[in-house]
Amino acid sequence: TSNYLRHVESMMVLPSGAGEISHLNAVILGEALASEENDLVFPCEEFSRQALVPSPEKYLGMYKRSITDPAGFWSEIASEFYWKQKWGTQVYSENLDVRKGPIKIEWFKGGITNICYNALDRNIEAGNGDKIAIYWEGNDLGQDGSLTYSSLLEKVCQLSNFLKDIGVQKGDAVVIYLPMLMELPIAMLACARIGAVHSVVFAGFSAESLAQRIVDCKAKAVITCNAVQRGPKVIHLKDIVDVALVESAKSGVSVDVCLTYENQSAMNRQDTEWKQGRDIWWQDIVPKYPTTCEVEWVDAEDPLFLLYTSGSTGRPKGVVHTTGGYMIYTATTFKYTFDYKPSDIYWCTADCGWITGHSYVTYGPLLNGATVVVFEGAPSYPDPGRCWDIVDKYKVTIFYTAPTLVRSLMREGDEYVTRYSRKSLRVLGSVGEPINPSAWRWFFNVVGDSRCPISDTWWQTETGGFMIAPLPGAWPQKPGSATFPFFGIQPVIVDEKGTEIEGECSGYLCVKSSWPGAFRTLYGDHERYETTYFKPFPGYYFSGDGCSRDKDGYHWLTGRVDDVINVSGHRIGTAEVESALVSHPQCAEAAVVGVEHEVKGQGIYAFVTLVEGVPYSEELRKSLILTVRNQIGAFAAPDKIHWAPGLPKTRSGKIMRRILRKIASRQLDELGDTSTLADPNVVDQLIALSDC
Ligand code: PRX
Repeated sequence: TSNYLRHVESMMVLPSGAGEISHLNAVILGEALASEENDLVFPCEEFSRQALVPSPEKYLGMYKRSITDPAGFWSEIASEFYWKQKWGTQVYSENLDVRKGPIKIEWFKGGITNICYNALDRNIEAGNGDKIAIYWEGNDLGQDGSLTYSSLLEKVCQLSNFLKDIGVQKGDAVVIYLPMLMELPIAMLACARIGAVHSVVFAGFSAESLAQRIVDCKAKAVITCNAVQRGPKVIHLKDIVDVALVESAKSGVSVDVCLTYENQSAMNRQDTEWKQGRDIWWQDIVPKYPTTCEVEWVDAEDPLFLLYTSGSTGRPKGVVHTTGGYMIYTATTFKYTFDYKPSDIYWCTADCGWITGHSYVTYGPLLNGATVVVFEGAPSYPDPGRCWDIVDKYKVTIFYTAPTLVRSLMREGDEYVTRYSRKSLRVLGSVGEPINPSAWRWFFNVVGDSRCPISDTWWQTETGGFMIAPLPGAWPQKPGSATFPFFGIQPVIVDEKGTEIEGECSGYLCVKSSWPGAFRTLYGDHERYETTYFKPFPGYYFSGDGCSRDKDGYHWLTGRVDDVINVSGHRIGTAEVESALVSHPQCAEAAVVGVEHEVKGQGIYAFVTLVEGVPYSEELRKSLILTVRNQIGAFAAPDKIHWAPGLPKTRSGKIMRRILRKIASRQLDELGDTSTLADPNVVDQLIALSDC
């Protein structure tokens, strides 16, 4: 650790150029300084003065403590939360080295607590019962609602009581397939209150993906709604659930209860398909239950939720997060990374179907007693000014979104932004993919009027919370860099051999030592957990991302180094798309790669070899795309199908994706050595078919 710290200290000398502008005297230099990637953008003096962490020196002091004394650092923070019983003598224990035995991470073991209690009851007891917990904004203008902390607790308790009544017990899994209604965080918290493990499935996943997840976690119940309106479209979610439940029953998991919220603005109950005995209308039954419900006290290491995410190979993996460490980590990262103050109104545009919605719509903010905006609609509906309309309507102070949304709104022109005041905004955030410097600058200069620092947060489903992110009052920023590690995080960059490289460098991003929010296993497959994340570079957690560190110690994420692609901030395994394509009866083989996409970050590019004798046709192209939509979801639909008479393979039959990536991005002069291919002619044939 001491070596590492010396290294950190040396890389954290103030960036060159910063010396001349005393940090506290820095004025807003955004516009002037943000012209080049390596330029520094300073937080304005007014912001820094009020910030929780107002300077690099303060950050460094706290960071050092978190690394040299993680037990002391984290247990002090944890003591601010409610524990029915304090954790044992050891704050944490870990083994991240496969050579030393099974991977194990535990934090606050023996501590007995409940995250729902800490998010709701604790805040109410502190006098915040009448504070707004959730503002809800529907798809259409004028559709809205809100819940105070007290009324949120009542709704959560009613649902907890219902779940208990139908036999859901501590440790049972409940699948939640809901759009961004208030009922989604309510359902998550209701599960947490009774110790049930929630598994939220993003409501854009297909019936088949939903069925897979229901089967994998052996769900006791499913919570959904009849339909959702997205922009001008109505999507019948309940129909998707019906198909999924038939499928899951075939695999031996029959779900007895499907609690369905009647989302009247999208569809009324008369038009909803119904299975008597299994389906129950939420509104008919849940409000009849008592508004108080005893908490199920759980161990810090009891599972809180499962969330499926894509990897390089095989089926999606069930990432397991436990209670205590996740609670402390999401609360703390939220507080410092957004410089949270009790008067803030916070809006994160992510859906609770992804990790961002778990950690930074539901748990992190509510644990801090924050007021959260939950938005059901589409950000460009009815027009591309909708986000700023919502910002002004609720006086949003912290706005957290993905670069893909920033880029798509940027294309619509500044007018949609500048017609709204946005004066309430003070912190902006970005997540999900690298933010390109031009999008960063637009976000900073236009959306934030060159006043609001941007927290570019690098993290993953697996990490539970932010890992590398600027503390907004502390650091001069560089557009496009996620800057420095959060407290307790020791990022390392390694070469192919797993040797740490220091100073200015590029390589594979790993993490040394555990942190409270780390995932503990993959559901039912600890071996895959070890193989995927801990075996590639023994001694470290391997993130799957590439990263470079510049001369000033700033981190620049360069994207996935495995076969995962990141489309509009959604993580998709190329193997999943390939397996969907080859399930099509006319597809013989498929290879999928990511290509740069102006708005989505990456697009999905599929090379498809057809069964002998089947001709290429537009109809077939559509049918292949439809197959992917049906098997995974619309967000995974390929942007391009490239007909491939054959695929470039080595003599041992391995597909050379490197070559496919170059063909897909039209970098034909960078194909490299093709002489090792079993059939080098394949490459010319592919190039010839590029525009078909
Ligand atoms: O490649 C990184 C990218 O998103 C991946 C994690 O995806 P997921 O588990 O779905 O979680 C997304 C929300 C945390 C990472 O491996 N990624 C996420 N945030 C950033 C990022 N890449 C660059 N900069 C970021 N801020």
